Amino acid sequence: MSNYVHIFDTTLRDGEQSPGASMDDHQKIEVAHQLTRLGVDVIEAGFPMASEQEFESVRRIAREIRGPRIAGLARAIRPDIERTAAALENAEKPLIHTFLATSSIHMEHKLRMTPEQVLENVIGAVTLAKSLIGRVEFSAEDATRSEWDFLVKVSQAAIDAGADVINLPDTTGYTTPGEIRRMFEYIIGKVKHDGHVIFSTHNHNDLGMAVANALAAVEGGARQIECTINGIGERAGNTSLEECVMAMHTRHDVLPYETGINTKEIYNSSRVLSNVTGLVVSYNKPIVGRNAFAHEAGIHQHGMLASTTTYEIMTPESVGRAKSELVLGKHSGRAGLAKRCEELGYTLGSDEISALYARFIKLADQKKEVFDDDLRLLLLGVRDETFQTYQLGKLTYSGKEQSAATVELVHGESRRSESAQGDGPVDAACVAIEKIVGVQGKLETFQMRAASPGKDALGEAHVIVQFEQRPFTGSGVSTDIVEAAVLAYLHALNKYLALQRG
Ligand code: KIV
Ligand code: ZN
Repeated sequence: MSNYVHIFDTTLRDGEQSPGASMDDHQKIEVAHQLTRLGVDVIEAGFPMASEQEFESVRRIAREIRGPRIAGLARAIRPDIERTAAALENAEKPLIHTFLATSSIHMEHKLRMTPEQVLENVIGAVTLAKSLIGRVEFSAEDATRSEWDFLVKVSQAAIDAGADVINLPDTTGYTTPGEIRRMFEYIIGKVKHDGHVIFSTHNHNDLGMAVANALAAVEGGARQIECTINGIGERAGNTSLEECVMAMHTRHDVLPYETGINTKEIYNSSRVLSNVTGLVVSYNKPIVGRNAFAHEAGIHQHGMLASTTTYEIMTPESVGRAKSELVLGKHSGRAGLAKRCEELGYTLGSDEISALYARFIKLADQKKEVFDDDLRLLLLGVRDETFQTYQLGKLTYSGKEQSAATVELVHGESRRSESAQGDGPVDAACVAIEKIVGVQGKLETFQMRAASPGKDALGEAHVIVQFEQRPFTGSGVSTDIVEAAVLAYLHALNKYLALQRG
């Protein structure tokens, strides 16, 4: 058996199901380009049947992305499969990913189907998908709570109907490393095929074991890991791409597997995703968290000075984390700025470069040093501005607890100002925004942090705002922290409005 493990990235499908993580078309294509640079084998672009918008964004990714295979998810029913095939029409290497649950819990309570009916539907779905698109993956949803002998039957039936990939998901994050390894060994040992079929593992992190389970499944014979950048996904998330790739990379002695991932693009990928979704990566997150390579304790620092190998099992450079680099000076030209952005994973149009350059010069006036992370955040603002319904024109505020704020919003050609009072300047500004837009939001989470070293750092605000009981994330950045918070609120509001427009 080959030791190559395919990396199937589902950030844009399962990952996007994280509360508040919804991305628009423009943001999804940006993430897809970054995943291409990262070297994933498959990009699961979405679930085309979910909505017209989702269909269009899968279609766009299928049309624009070259290199990775592009997958679309479909339930095991004709309308989904045909819609997915249509969305993938222009893909260089398309894949239909169809699924049906196989556990008795799901068959009885959700599907209300007998095992025989499930088997029949799997055969029908895979046969149809295969007749439309050359490559098909079948997922036995809730596999880890299914009877193993039934999984053997279903997998065999799917393979005989033409499936190229059999995925055995741990849909509820329930399994353990020992158990999933034995499950893969058992099923792979029983199923017959001509050698071309890949077994795939897809794990959720409800018990914090998604990465361990994915790696154990590989030891049991799986040769594809389905995962997401930063481990985002439903509930506690999916397998984190960076963690399982770096585990195989760093512990190659005990996990002797290869992937096509360019590990130097890992940090960029994490930043691109958290910038577009507004989902903050926790400081202690392995590989990509702010503190992942920080050594605080004196004894550790002493060891690190003697030799980095004392406490460092992998280098920050290996995942693309150079020391926070000083980017460009005030006198650097637009070309240098565009080149640095390209290196950071962003391809900019000429209007965007002009807008970014204006912001960069302004920031370089306010701040002694401009770092890569500052540049990433400036980019976020520029990118958002190009599709935001409402942009911040002016903001003035006064007072501490009992505050007043005046906000001017720009909407196309028109400008409108409102003033309001509130408990603190952020609250007052949000009330003023509500008066202008006529939409009420509930600020649920509000985090502030410095984007880079130094007292003059840019403030990075991240919020989750509930609109009609649905959470929307937003990010904003400014040297003024109240303005950063207001921009973040507006970012979340614009996402909500975009979704309303459909
Ligand atoms: O978790 C799951 O079972 C899924 C399937 C659709 C593969 O996401
Ligand atoms: Zn899933």
